[in-house]
Amino acid sequence: MLQVAVVGSGPSGVYAAQGLVQQDQVPGIRVDVLDRLPCPYGLVRYGVAPDHEKIKSLQGTLRTVLEHERVRFLGGIRIGPDGLPATRLRDLYHAVVYCVGAATDRRLGVPGEELPGSWSATDFVSWYSAHPDVESDGFVVGARAAVVIGVGNVAVDVTRILARGAAELSATDMPQAALAALAGSQVREIQMVGRRGPSQARFTTKELRELGGLPDTEVVVDPAELALDPAYLDPSALPAAQRRNVEVLRGWTERPPAAGSRRIRLRFFLRPVELLPDGIGHVGAVRFERTLPDGLGGVTGTGRYEDVEAQLVLRSVGYRGVPLEGLPFDADRGTVPHLAGRVLRAGSVAPGEYVAGWIKRGPTGVIGTNRPCAKETVTSLLEDAPALVHREVPRDPLAALRAEGLRPVEWSGWQAIERAEAALGASLGRGVVKLPDWQALMTAAEAKDPL
Ligand SMILES: Cc1cc2nc3c(=O)[nH]c(=O)nc-3n(C[C@H](O)[C@H](O)[C@H](O)COP(=O)(O)OP(=O)(O)OC[C@H]3O[C@@H](n4cnc5c(N)ncnc54)[C@H](O)[C@@H]3O)c2cc1C
Ligand SMILES: NC(=O)c1ccc[n+]([C@@H]2O[C@H](COP(=O)([O-])OP(=O)(O)OC[C@H]3O[C@@H](n4cnc5c(N)ncnc54)[C@H](OP(=O)(O)O)[C@@H]3O)[C@@H](O)[C@H]2O)c1
Repeated sequence: MLQVAVVGSGPSGVYAAQGLVQQDQVPGIRVDVLDRLPCPYGLVRYGVAPDHEKIKSLQGTLRTVLEHERVRFLGGIRIGPDGLPATRLRDLYHAVVYCVGAATDRRLGVPGEELPGSWSATDFVSWYSAHPDVESDGFVVGARAAVVIGVGNVAVDVTRILARGAAELSATDMPQAALAALAGSQVREIQMVGRRGPSQARFTTKELRELGGLPDTEVVVDPAELALDPAYLDPSALPAAQRRNVEVLRGWTERPPAAGSRRIRLRFFLRPVELLPDGIGHVGAVRFERTLPDGLGGVTGTGRYEDVEAQLVLRSVGYRGVPLEGLPFDADRGTVPHLAGRVLRAGSVAPGEYVAGWIKRGPTGVIGTNRPCAKETVTSLLEDAPALVHREVPRDPLAALRAEGLRPVEWSGWQAIERAEAALGASLGRGVVKLPDWQALMTAAEAKDPL
């Protein structure tokens, strides 16, 4: 019987587990899905925006996999230096599939990036999603104007959350402290800024369009700025997705301005060059250089600058994988080198080690993209299975993990967290409300099953 550890319970980990137990080629495979958090689902729980209930509900589909009779969720187990070393994990299973995602943010690399008031979108998302590692909560304090750098879907998410009113946010599972902070926010103007043109923005049309439907919020675009993009003036050669984006933006230039107490401005052809302090060392503005298309898909600087006021700056320029000790790492791409999902060590396949998801491909792609990605990896693993199964491993890896002094949060522990979050929500007159800190999660996980 082949015993496999999947590290990471986000979409790629769960799809990998599903692929392993729902096939006939190698019968009887058992899969332990380990996660450093006591809660499963990765970015579906800790990234997908709380006001996107339909996408959040995909957790239900992932859940059925984790409840499969040959799959076991083992939360609260970090693989790496502060937890179980990857080399030790390798001793406990015939194969290990790393699906650890991309936990950190890309840097802008401009002066002033570290000023107070400048945050990565990664931190902001983790905060309103109740990720237990987040300790900051001062994001919107004292801010009237915000700049979001980047025009991908994460930029749209954080812009939308900043623009939402208290009533809309309170219907979500956002933790109470984040809800209170956002409900009291004085941010009235949000500028979301792309360094290239509207036809090159990375957001998808559905997400873009949603900005235009936010209550009490005006969306503003400058037709002259859009027109710097030749593809905006003649979108006929654009792929359908980009053409639709351009059409939505054009529609916004043509409609009469709607009144709203909040305003979102979409800006293009502005490259961030510096974050400027105010008089007390907090961020006060972002200096951008005006760019123009270079005809090759990129932009060139014009030497003209514009300072945009902001007491809150969210840098939304992409996520980045972090190296996991004991695994090779491509520092340029932020991924683990692989061949069809098989980990490559010094250019050669490392038997029994695999990757899937963002740590394999880099931090792009929607939830569904991880399914074929995991399938490719599982296909490789199944091909290797006859050779892997001969290696001697403990009969019960869970007992071996416990013998290492680890105390995994099992499925019943996660269910206890779910009950605690439902109870917290009920006590606050809301729906489910997420527990935002380690202590609350671990205390809840230890609660006994109700009779
Ligand atoms: C803010 C945001 C919003 C998004 N919204 C959407 C959306 O609305 N719709 C959509 O289709 N896609 C969305 N996506 C994309 C989608 O979330 C990703 O495609 C997907 O989550 C990537 O899956 P993954 O399994 O590779 O990584 P993750 O989902 O990041 O899962 C990685 C898991 O590994 C665990 N882990 C990490 N390191 C260790 C370790 N050392 N030991 C043990 N466990 C570890 C983590 O705790 C985590 O649970 C969004 C992405 C972001 C960043
Ligand atoms: N609702 C959803 O379906 C949803 C929600 C959230 C996330 N996601 C997915 O998750 C993935 C990650 O999203 P993401 O928004 O983090 O990444 P992304 O789509 O790669 O967008 C990153 C943005 O940052 C810009 N950027 C990068 N470096 C920059 C720099 N130095 N200066 C200025 N701008 C810079 C990019 O501009 P350039 O193009 O010029 O490089 C781009 O606009 C995507 O695949 C996304 O679709 C999906």
